[in-house]
Amino acid sequence: MTDVAGKTSFVTGGASGIGLGIAKALLGAGSNVVIADIRDDHLDAAVKELDGGDRVLALKLDVTNRQAYAAAADAAEAKFGKIHILVNNAGVGLGGPTELASFNDWDWVNGVNVGGVINGVAIILPRILAHGEGGHIVSTASMGALVPVGGSTIYCAGKAYVCSMMECMRTELESRGVITAAFCPGAVQTNIAQSGKTRPPELSDAGLAAADRPRQSAGDLSHLFQTKEEVGQRVLRGIRNDELYILTHSEFIDGVRERGEATTLAVQDHLPENAEYKAIFAMLFRNPAITEEIERQKRLKAQRQE
Ligand SMILES: NC(=O)c1ccc[n+]([C@@H]2O[C@H](COP(=O)([O-])OP(=O)(O)OC[C@H]3O[C@@H](n4cnc5c(N)ncnc54)[C@H](O)[C@@H]3O)[C@@H](O)[C@H]2O)c1
Repeated sequence: MTDVAGKTSFVTGGASGIGLGIAKALLGAGSNVVIADIRDDHLDAAVKELDGGDRVLALKLDVTNRQAYAAAADAAEAKFGKIHILVNNAGVGLGGPTELASFNDWDWVNGVNVGGVINGVAIILPRILAHGEGGHIVSTASMGALVPVGGSTIYCAGKAYVCSMMECMRTELESRGVITAAFCPGAVQTNIAQSGKTRPPELSDAGLAAADRPRQSAGDLSHLFQTKEEVGQRVLRGIRNDELYILTHSEFIDGVRERGEATTLAVQDHLPENAEYKAIFAMLFRNPAITEEIERQKRLKAQRQE
């Protein structure tokens, strides 16, 4: 999809931080925008900040509630007709030693960061396919999906899940007009440190709460982070370029490369290949969408250097 003008975008967690930055960029490029968010205060402030009049629809939604999610998609279609761009962005942050994580910690973070994306795909993808005008599904993962680090097992593992979903779906859906993308930002100036405010009471038994507190109050380092407007524009560019991997911060280059190198070196390539296995299961050994992405990213890199 190169032109978002006149299309409709549905952005979860769209009332704050990265989601709001993406909503702003899409609105600025001529898309109608639905911002769906669990927090009323964020929705109220975001509507003012977006100042998009009739082209903005703010909906209160908990992405883990499937019934409510379907009703929100209905409301978006009732207002704008069709949804073309889904941005699965709602997410929460929680860190700390893995052994301290309670089941509720796992369930809450995975429920939103993974379950919310699954719900978005299950509810909105069929609607995009049904209208036949094509579309885009961008899911906010994280650089943590590509450079997983200690002390953030639940978070990084969930982000890797989301990244993998977008990689698998790209191969499956591109020929049917739906482009999927994994947006993997580094640190951005947002309200993610307030995630605890949206934690449901039934999942309140938090093994990691105490461990997470110092991280959440580690002083204001936000001047080191990118702004929501910067990453919003980055996502818009990623959509226009059909990028599979929408990445940001250059500081991660070594970590991303090392993961690729380490996994490549770990393949037991001293063993002879079984030609029959390789021929019969050819689709398992290489994802053509990733092969194409190498060429796309080379092209985009060359354009940046011109
Ligand atoms: N901030 C960063 O540095 C950073 C880096 C990489 C990835 N991310 C990811 O970016 C996404 C957006 O986070 P952010 O940093 O902008 O934080 P944020 O808190 O500013 O925005 C997230 C929004 O999601 C909403 N939300 C939370 N739970 C929800 C739910 N169950 N249903 C609907 N809405 C819900 C919140 O109310 C909030 O408005 C998340 O997926 C996060 O994991 C953030």
